Amino acid sequence: MESAHILIGLSGSIAAFKIATLVSSLTKQGYEVRVIETKHAASFIGPLTLAALSHNEVYMDEFDGTNEAMIPHIELSRWADVFLIAPADANILAKAAHGLGDDLLSSTILAATCPMLAAPAMNVHMYENPATQANLQTLHERGWTIIDPAYGMLACQEAGRGRMAEPEELEKNIKAILENKAIAASVAQGDSSIDQKPLAGKRVVVSAGPTQESLDPVRFLSNHSSGKQGYAIARAARDLGAQVTLVSGPVSLEALQGVRMVPVVSALDLEKAMIEEARDADFIIMAAAVADYRFKDHHEQKMKKTGDVLTLELVKNPDILAGLGQNKKPGQILCGFAMETENLDTNARVKLESKNCDLLIANNLRTKGAGFQTDTNVVSLLFPDHTEHLGLQSKEALGHTILKTMLALQKGEDPDVIVR
Ligand code: CTP
Repeated sequence: MESAHILIGLSGSIAAFKIATLVSSLTKQGYEVRVIETKHAASFIGPLTLAALSHNEVYMDEFDGTNEAMIPHIELSRWADVFLIAPADANILAKAAHGLGDDLLSSTILAATCPMLAAPAMNVHMYENPATQANLQTLHERGWTIIDPAYGMLACQEAGRGRMAEPEELEKNIKAILENKAIAASVAQGDSSIDQKPLAGKRVVVSAGPTQESLDPVRFLSNHSSGKQGYAIARAARDLGAQVTLVSGPVSLEALQGVRMVPVVSALDLEKAMIEEARDADFIIMAAAVADYRFKDHHEQKMKKTGDVLTLELVKNPDILAGLGQNKKPGQILCGFAMETENLDTNARVKLESKNCDLLIANNLRTKGAGFQTDTNVVSLLFPDHTEHLGLQSKEALGHTILKTMLALQKGEDPDVIVR
């Protein structure tokens, strides 16, 4: 990747000074670096510094007649293998989320088709503002990698989250994306020498966490799922080189870097998202703990207390996994989960068959080290023709095992080689 093209866009924040270190480090390693600065960014770090460090002219404003390129936003967007916006102030994030292109940086973002990263930097209240959070969420859902800011004392003399990530962190993220791109390209060219990333070129969709079924504006029906197992699978898929989408119910886990996050709340939201995401997925893993029922009536206002006994009617939610099983695409591998408190193998086998899964991971809530809130799991792997029982292991390790097993199934190889 020595000559990969890295485009860096700076917007107005004091953190702009850190970009000098990043540009210098990347250039020394042989990467081609080009820099765009907004007018405000140029007040924090002059273009001369960045031009000297990148050995390239710095692009400042659209159509000012000084750039070599005739239509710089198009040429730069075509040139870039990866595009980092850092520091990303609240304004550029809003423009990117809403498709505005009123200067060189925002127009180049609009025209870019390469992987995008953003490293936010701003005052804590601006960062926490729901508008900024919504914009970050939008970009994240479009596949941007958001490099979270750190806590600390900010330039505005307030403490809080908003300090841009350090140059080393930015560099690590850029390299991870370039590495994934290189692997995907090698796979497209039929290069089989990249077995350290066995899922390169594969699309993996994972669901995780509970669903919440709303009764009124303050109450809902849900379960104790923490989302840990689903997140561990998504992380493993990413680390094994896959392109990953994580459809997540409400959990208190951090969003995963390098994974496309699709947040959902109810089982009906989850069903819609999974049908959409399953269209071109190679592997689908339903680790979400879906509520089997939802309230028949949803109340727009908070329900008031009435008599001593209250009866609420529930209606059945769709069985999402069964629906995906019925509509399985050729070559697609479907993995379900089963959480039981008794007759584990028998109940789980019924689920494997009735939902048309290729693999089902069964765990018993009552087994020590297994279940919802733990970092470990004890499971059985059910295949259509046999069952394998695994010992206690981390949810992370199990994630790797599940994915490698699915890969073996897709290739028509013996999955027991992975498991035993
Ligand atoms: N599942 C689903 N849609 C539902 C319920 C469950 O897609 N409405 C999926 C889960 O994500 C899991 C598998 O089906 O992968 C089994 O879920 P589980 O709760 O163990 O079983 P159920 O099918 O709901 O059956 P029961 O609650 O009767 O045990």
